Amino acid sequence: METVRNSLALVAGGTGYVGEGIVKSLLDRGARVVVPFRNAEKADRLRAAVSPPLLDGLDLQHTVITDQDSMEHLMSYIIETYGRLDIAVASLGGWYYGYSLHRMPMEDWQALLTNNLNSHFMFMKPVMEYFYKVNGGEYVMINGSASEKPVPESGVISVLAGAQKMMGQVLREEAHGTGIQVSTLIPTQPVKTRERMVDNMESWFSAEELGQFICDIVEGSRPRQDSGVYYL
Ligand SMILES: NC(=O)c1ccc[n+]([C@@H]2O[C@H](COP(=O)([O-])OP(=O)(O)OC[C@H]3O[C@@H](n4cnc5c(N)ncnc54)[C@H](OP(=O)(O)O)[C@@H]3O)[C@@H](O)[C@H]2O)c1
Repeated sequence: METVRNSLALVAGGTGYVGEGIVKSLLDRGARVVVPFRNAEKADRLRAAVSPPLLDGLDLQHTVITDQDSMEHLMSYIIETYGRLDIAVASLGGWYYGYSLHRMPMEDWQALLTNNLNSHFMFMKPVMEYFYKVNGGEYVMINGSASEKPVPESGVISVLAGAQKMMGQVLREEAHGTGIQVSTLIPTQPVKTRERMVDNMESWFSAEELGQFICDIVEGSRPRQDSGVYYL
């Protein structure tokens, strides 16, 4: 894609702290951005974080990503309203700390499985279905360094992030020879977000810079990696 301007982007997890920065950068480059949300307060928080001149480009849609009908409804809405989808970003899931893996309660495991892996699967399905139909599209997954490094007491995050990374690689292999691009971004440090405020380190990438990085890959001003995996 030559330019992000006038493209249509969909950011799952756009109400989260990393997603918020990605949404802002895409809007800043001139994309229209649809953000599914399930929590109205977080939707308001995102709206308040976007500078007013860019708000026209933001479209928040109540959606339950882990519900197939709800996700399919969102995709139909996007195509009926905008007639296209060019960029999809999955910035989904949360952190967990507290137990060695063998002591982790089953209910916590199930909740993490839903939020950090099933959400990716359910979001990806109708998006990729559409991308295959039009033989094009950018699919970007945000991951973390736990995907490659075991983190004691947060082991479930490593297990699921590792699986998420492999999901991206499988999607990429399967899309080989089509017009679809699949990328995984792995920040090697924590991301500078509004949530951490004074605890942010200057050397970390900010959530907005992550968004700019995505725009640069999409526009071709940053070289593509053969592996589809980008370390920041
Ligand atoms: N923060 C960091 O320093 C950092 C560093 C490296 C990588 N990352 C990666 O960045 C991504 C986002 O992290 P974050 O810090 O932005 O977390 P966050 O603030 O907790 O945001 C997570 C987002 O995912 C959504 N989500 C979670 N489970 C969901 C579900 N079942 N259905 C629909 N939406 C769901 C949340 O929606 P709700 O608002 O509805 O819960 C929220 O929008 C993760 O993949 C993480 O590994 C973060």
